[in-house]
Amino acid sequence: MARIFAITNQKGGVGKTTTTINLAASLAATRRRILLVDLDPQGNATMGSGIDKNDCELTLYDLLTGPVSFDQVMRRSESGQYDVLPSNGDLTAAEVELLSVDDKEFVLSNLLQSVANHYDFILIDCPPSLSMLTINALAAANGVIVPIQCEYYALEGLSALMNTIARVADTINPDITIEGLLRTMYDPRNSLTNDVSDQLMQHFGERVYRTVIPRNVRLAEAPSHGEPVLAYDKQSKGAIAYLALAGELLRREDARFGDADQSDDKQAAQRAVSNESTPPQK
Ligand SMILES: Nc1ncnc2c1ncn2[C@@H]1O[C@H](COP(=O)(O)OP(=O)(O)O)[C@@H](O)[C@H]1O
Ligand SMILES: [Mg+2]
Repeated sequence: MARIFAITNQKGGVGKTTTTINLAASLAATRRRILLVDLDPQGNATMGSGIDKNDCELTLYDLLTGPVSFDQVMRRSESGQYDVLPSNGDLTAAEVELLSVDDKEFVLSNLLQSVANHYDFILIDCPPSLSMLTINALAAANGVIVPIQCEYYALEGLSALMNTIARVADTINPDITIEGLLRTMYDPRNSLTNDVSDQLMQHFGERVYRTVIPRNVRLAEAPSHGEPVLAYDKQSKGAIAYLALAGELLRREDARFGDADQSDDKQAAQRAVSNESTPPQK
């Protein structure tokens, strides 16, 4: 059964799409079976996976709203070695159409449950909003990965996101956890980066990934070639960082499932959701 992660932050430009593409490719490089779900009408994750969003006859929109099958919509990213549910501007209409269907929060969840046996991980690239599409992602997900650019306003948007996740946990998806907070476009020479990073550690403790993603021009260049950075320049700092992130994520998963009693982890996530700091681990 796939573990399903929503890569989300209602701020734009924080590295959601970059993280989704490169984490997908890095996990695929460890022979995991991966599905990337492009839930942003901008279609950046689709294009960055080497699939022309304007050339897709059927997209995620059709799958969410009409009687088409998964196999008709699913495409393969050859550059990333993972499967993709592609999107383009059509998805904007889904936002409105979903509002009038039964169980509107669970349309994506039901869809992904029907294919979850075929994958090890499903990664959902969310739009920059707390919209009905994002709610669908949070209803479908086992965990949330939050990319954070360590800058002045980073923490401000974060409490709104944590409140939304807590509300989702109270209502439509009681099992959701904060899988991890990821520091992106990290520049250790910038003192503000370090201040924000320290505050994140204070608030979220163990939930902050140890791996940081540096600012790296290769990561910014790769999408215009339709490639994850691993295919574009596997020696780059960006490629190495996303491989390290995949390793850290897999170790966390092993620890979670190797441990018969998962309640510690759940409590840590609940503390994270409620914005309390996590006590340091021995
Ligand atoms: N670590 C990084 N180093 C350099 N550029 C980055 C990095 N992460 C993202 N970018 C660039 O920053 C911009 C925003 O990133 P993106 O992943 O599209 O954010 P989001 O999906 O949150 O809007 C893109 O142009 C992307 O190529
Ligand atoms: Mg994006």
